Amino acid sequence: MDAPNKEFALAGSLEELKAKGRLVVHGGHRPILVVYDRGRVFALDNRCPHMGFPLERGSVEDGILTCHWHHARFDLESGCTFDLWADDVPICPVEMRNGDVWVKTTFGHADPAAHWHQRLTDGLAHDLGLVIAKAVHGQLAADVPLANIVRQVALFGAQNRDSWGVGLTILTALANLLPVLPEEEAYLALFHGARRVAADCDGEAPRRERAPLGSRLEPATLKRWLRRWTNVRHREAAERTLLTAIAAGLSPAVLADALLAAETERAFADTGHSLDFINKAFECLDLIGWEHAAALLPTVVGQMVAARGAEESTAWRQPVDLVALCDEAASQLPELFAAGHVVHGWSDHAALARELLGDDPARIVDALRGAILAGAAPTDLSRSLAYGAALRVARFGNANEHADWETAHHVFTYANAVHQMLTRIGTADIDGDVTAVRGILHGTMALYLTRYLNVPPARIPGEGGEHLDDLPADAETIRAALIDAFDRQRQVDLAARLVARHLRLGHSPQALIATLARAVLREDAGFHAYQMLEAGVRQFTVWGETDEGRHILIAVARYLAAHSPTERAALQTADIARRLMRGAELHQGAGAL
Ligand code: FES
Repeated sequence: MDAPNKEFALAGSLEELKAKGRLVVHGGHRPILVVYDRGRVFALDNRCPHMGFPLERGSVEDGILTCHWHHARFDLESGCTFDLWADDVPICPVEMRNGDVWVKTTFGHADPAAHWHQRLTDGLAHDLGLVIAKAVHGQLAADVPLANIVRQVALFGAQNRDSWGVGLTILTALANLLPVLPEEEAYLALFHGARRVAADCDGEAPRRERAPLGSRLEPATLKRWLRRWTNVRHREAAERTLLTAIAAGLSPAVLADALLAAETERAFADTGHSLDFINKAFECLDLIGWEHAAALLPTVVGQMVAARGAEESTAWRQPVDLVALCDEAASQLPELFAAGHVVHGWSDHAALARELLGDDPARIVDALRGAILAGAAPTDLSRSLAYGAALRVARFGNANEHADWETAHHVFTYANAVHQMLTRIGTADIDGDVTAVRGILHGTMALYLTRYLNVPPARIPGEGGEHLDDLPADAETIRAALIDAFDRQRQVDLAARLVARHLRLGHSPQALIATLARAVLREDAGFHAYQMLEAGVRQFTVWGETDEGRHILIAVARYLAAHSPTERAALQTADIARRLMRGAELHQGAGAL
């Protein structure tokens, strides 16, 4: 007999169900499990929401259905799970007709976007990797805009730990790359960002709200007060000052100028991380909307006021007092810029970068002075600094200890952050006060102190007439060889040569960048790898397809190759979620359970 309503299918007679205890309804829909338990009939999706095991092979006791793969337990009536890492099972309405059991065959989530939004919140709150992966995938499948997912994760991270951290930095770095990532890599990027935010928040005390002051602040006052509170490490005062500035509607450029001025009260604080985090918070707001500034931006203040400055380190004081050198030059900056009259089109960036790589700190500072007098703007100087720092990585000698890669990396990502901040500030520096430019001086000294990393320097492939003709010429073959190189340890030089070959032949840099991103996203990458990739891509964008641009991507490839491969455990989780969401039978091979 046909069902009056075609959405319902006949499961069998009630007598048969009573005798067997459970039935599975097949048809042009997902298999549905029908269970008889203590006088009542229940119908659920037969796929365990955890990893898809057939629930018909589970057991029922006391109204609780237990899956026999990883033993997730579900309330039979509602489908809700007792084990959050699993998920709730969709249930189906049941109708009894003339002694027969009919079940509705269309089920699922009435509002998939809302469902997966909530599941992402659950996954973040309980730091559940597989739940996070499924929720990200589910939101993407429901056509939730990428920026909405980033916003959800970012705000969770801002509210559920006391200060900005590594997770939010990774999230922002990867979100910055989303426009150049193919679909699969975009999913991985969001997953990695979300899982690292969740890990950061796990076990942390939630953030406590502070309120703005009752007054209105002039930009100059904001800047002066933030510097004052940073100097005396008064976090509450600094946060309230910043909140007041945000409430007054001061522009992102003015806020950036004030925070960079305060941050540079200490030189190269926390080996550059503190400044990098501030820059990332600004970039995060660009992505999720500046209406969230009061929730997000003050999270950077705690580290800013607590950070240890390089002035406390012997290397910056002996044998040359680099801090004194920076302080003296900083005091001259307003005069120098006033005398220099910024020349649009000043273009000696590469030459200045080479001078910044010198081995005499006084001459390095003189080179900066000379460039300013010749018309260089702050962003010209920071561009040169970032390129010089990239060259340190590109020429990182293989004789160094492996941990020294991080020393080279710190200067490069710091320099990129200074450049991004100064670009944002633009001409918003208040009353000709160029305090924030101290970040460049500190960066050049950090670069100077890492000169030993290039002794002896690694050769940059493709230089000095090297043709690289032993490598493939076809673009896809080169990129496949690059991915293959990342599968093996110590392929630093090969990775560099393949990148040089790809770019020298004029193949698409965007495709190469996507390959480098893929290489990072499949690894259990460390925090620095994400930073290096993103900073490299940002700096490559500044230079484009030039020798300098090529050197920057070579630096990225060398760093990444030195840190690959890893166990790729997170990739496995992401793959499981992806296959499960696409209906794959993950339990094949688990038949003996
Ligand atoms: S608990 Fe059911 S598949 Fe894992």
